[in-house]
Amino acid sequence: MLIGRNGELNRAASRVGAASRGHGGLLLVSGEQGVGKSTLVAAAFWP
Ligand SMILES: Nc1ncnc2c1ncn2[C@@H]1O[C@H](COP(=O)(O)OP(=O)(O)OP(=O)(O)O)[C@@H](O)[C@H]1O
Ligand SMILES: [Mg+2]
Repeated sequence: MLIGRNGELNRAASRVGAASRGHGGLLLVSGEQGVGKSTLVAAAFWP
């Protein structure tokens, strides 16, 4: 379960939605080791 990160999640989920409608793009997710990058991306794909 993702805690906080609402802004980041909205942005990532929005890109996933656009991609699923045929609008490709690039989303850079960066941050320190263990800060939650993989968790964020997983939540964007599988809410
Ligand atoms: N916002 C969050 N809410 C809940 N749990 C979180 C959050 N951010 C990180 N965690 C937890 O912290 C741990 C590390 O998260 P995660 O693996 O997503 O980090 P990462 O940035 O992908 O790390 P790495 O750089 O090693 O790939 C996981 O157990 C994850 O569930
Ligand atoms: Mg990771």
